[in-house]
Amino acid sequence: MNFELTEEERLIKNMTRVFANEVIIPQIDESYETKEFPLGIFQQMADLGLMGLKYPEEYGGSGASNMAYITAMEEIARGDCGVGLTWGVHQTLGSVSIIKFGTEQQKEKYLPKMAAGEWLGAFGLSEANAGSDNQGMECKAELQDDGTWKVNGTKMFISNTGTPLSFGGIFLFVTGKTPSGKKEFTSFIVDKDTPGYSIGTKFKKMGFDWGDTREQIFEDCILSDEQRLGPRGNGFKQIMDTLDAARIGYAANSLGMAVRCYDEALKYGNERKQFGQTINSFQVTSFKLANMATKIELARLMVQKAAWMRDNNIPHTKEAAMAKYYASKICMEVASEAVQIHGGYGFSEEYPVCRYFRYGKMMEIGEGTNEINQIVISRHLGIAGL
Ligand code: CAA
Repeated sequence: MNFELTEEERLIKNMTRVFANEVIIPQIDESYETKEFPLGIFQQMADLGLMGLKYPEEYGGSGASNMAYITAMEEIARGDCGVGLTWGVHQTLGSVSIIKFGTEQQKEKYLPKMAAGEWLGAFGLSEANAGSDNQGMECKAELQDDGTWKVNGTKMFISNTGTPLSFGGIFLFVTGKTPSGKKEFTSFIVDKDTPGYSIGTKFKKMGFDWGDTREQIFEDCILSDEQRLGPRGNGFKQIMDTLDAARIGYAANSLGMAVRCYDEALKYGNERKQFGQTINSFQVTSFKLANMATKIELARLMVQKAAWMRDNNIPHTKEAAMAKYYASKICMEVASEAVQIHGGYGFSEEYPVCRYFRYGKMMEIGEGTNEINQIVISRHLGIAGL
């Protein structure tokens, strides 16, 4: 594995670094105050071609590698982790299945608008009683005599469906039983104006206040068979593969946020004086920063390795889970230390580390809780069971 960025990756890194410093960081605070979706930021990302970064070139995207994606994600998340999360869903969960399993008609209908940033990707898997245990899903699509599907049920904690750029999303439904009696799952693309489909009000959360997270309600919602994404019964495997890609991005998101916490703590510690000297000149603070930097370095290597494996079609489910688990764990630890270095100021909204501390918890929960990722890892190590 070569650790040097390619020319393309270096350009993407520089562009997203400047974008984070000059656009995201100065503009995002307003969204935390108003709790409004930062449409302007996403429009500027579209102007730079970032909304289509991972989308195939034949559908208007840049066809960038996973390495390029995680490089960009680290910078974008350093600017704001919520922008990273929203963009990450668009680059992975909300699009990978269309790119890999969609019909030509579906690709032509959705991908160019998504790559151009006119439409924002979304993905619905979780339900009120099926978060970690996806097999517990109950939201069902029943095949009708006329070949259409009737959907009933509710999805929970779904991002990106109520923004000005939302078009609907990819959803997984129970479509019957397998020959061995297990639930059969199939993916569908649901357009937002489909009769019988509606979204709930935006959840109030611990952090990421402007983020669009809602219930999705299906009441006798009729979908044509053209909305089915991939073969009937293949949905669970499609989603598990998509989650591998998404977890690498989520790990990079955690990494970017940890870098921002480190940067903020370093800056604060160089300015803050106590007992007649800057607090960074005390060994107790410099060792904290050394630990933070070491954890960040290790997390970056893990994220890069998982992305490189996916780019090279090497099985990477374990490495994606390890990267997600470790990067989000150290993200919370680094955020906590950054608050500690800020002392009382770290507990105040005046300093960004206060917000990142709350975000850190989200990184340990989303895209498979860290405990679920530990299950995935242990199964790949040959250690059985849940
Ligand atoms: N790629 C392809 N196929 C896979 C796969 C992968 N990575 N992992 C499993 N599969 C296949 C298996 O081979 C198996 O196929 P067969 O039936 O043919 O044998 C099938 O999928 C079922 O696999 P398991 O038996 O391993 O499934 P399980 O029910 O035991 O559970 C689990 C697996 C790991 C617990 C899984 O349910 C899981 O990952 N749960 C967490 C869900 C999650 O991450 N949710 C996050 C939602 S998105 C989100 O959170 C967005 C956000 O924050 C913004």
